[in-house]
Amino acid sequence: MRVLTIIPTYNELESLPKTLGRLRAAVPASDVLVVDDNSPDGTGQLADSIAAEDGQVHVLHRKGKEGLGAAYIAGFKWGMAAGYDVLVEMDADGSHQPEQLPLLLDAINDGADLAMGSRWVPGGGTVNWPFYRQAISRTGSTYARLMLGLKIKDITGGYRAFRRSTLEALKLDQVESVGYGFQVDLAWRVAKLGLKIVECPITFVERELGASKMSGNIVVEAMINVTKWGLASRWAALTRKKTPVSK
Ligand code: GDD
Ligand code: MN
Repeated sequence: MRVLTIIPTYNELESLPKTLGRLRAAVPASDVLVVDDNSPDGTGQLADSIAAEDGQVHVLHRKGKEGLGAAYIAGFKWGMAAGYDVLVEMDADGSHQPEQLPLLLDAINDGADLAMGSRWVPGGGTVNWPFYRQAISRTGSTYARLMLGLKIKDITGGYRAFRRSTLEALKLDQVESVGYGFQVDLAWRVAKLGLKIVECPITFVERELGASKMSGNIVVEAMINVTKWGLASRWAALTRKKTPVSK
């Protein structure tokens, strides 16, 4: 299994080297792709200098900040073109502990089409994550679970491993959401395809350096989209049931 871990970065100069070092030590077999959106702090150049020393580290430079979703889609396309079997999503700031990656890879080995790191299953949790962020995450996940009829407990989580065939089955070009919305969007698409999703307990550790890029707008976008998708799927189910009657 050829594994590519994709790390999107925007101003992660302080965090990135540490995360890369931990990842290369914890899972030496995984190649890495840093997807940098032309970070003003020079994260892209730093990534280049690390890549120059380590043949397993690659860097994809993008013109400007277009959001987490766009960065991941570019990374997935790069990884699929390069022939990787498993594509991993991981934050640059250390919140997703590289030492826990084997849990996700084991789930894929055991047959999962998508393995999701989960804070809200038994054994999972958070360290130093502010109460308001936990509340948004739990409430958002519960809302999405009810609205979309899914069993996933941590639907906005961003520590994931996709089997290549899963990404091939998704229509990546149709995914427009950014931020949390992007994570929910992908999980929802995978669930609709009937593919196997496994949640693995992880401990999400709040970043020590740098700042979060998540904003209120991103939360609102996610809520609006979840509501739209939920209503659309209920409507579709209703009209499907009515069709034979009207014939
Ligand atoms: N290339 C690129 N472009 N990277 C970005 C962008 C962007 O526009 N926005 C954010 N990132 C990168 C950050 O540099 C970091 O590596 C990662 O995406 C996550 O961003 P954070 O800003 O640290 O997110 P968070 O800690 O607030 O949110 C976490 O929790 C969310 C809710 O569960 C992440 O795990 C999210 O993935 C998750 O949806
Ligand atoms: Mn973070």
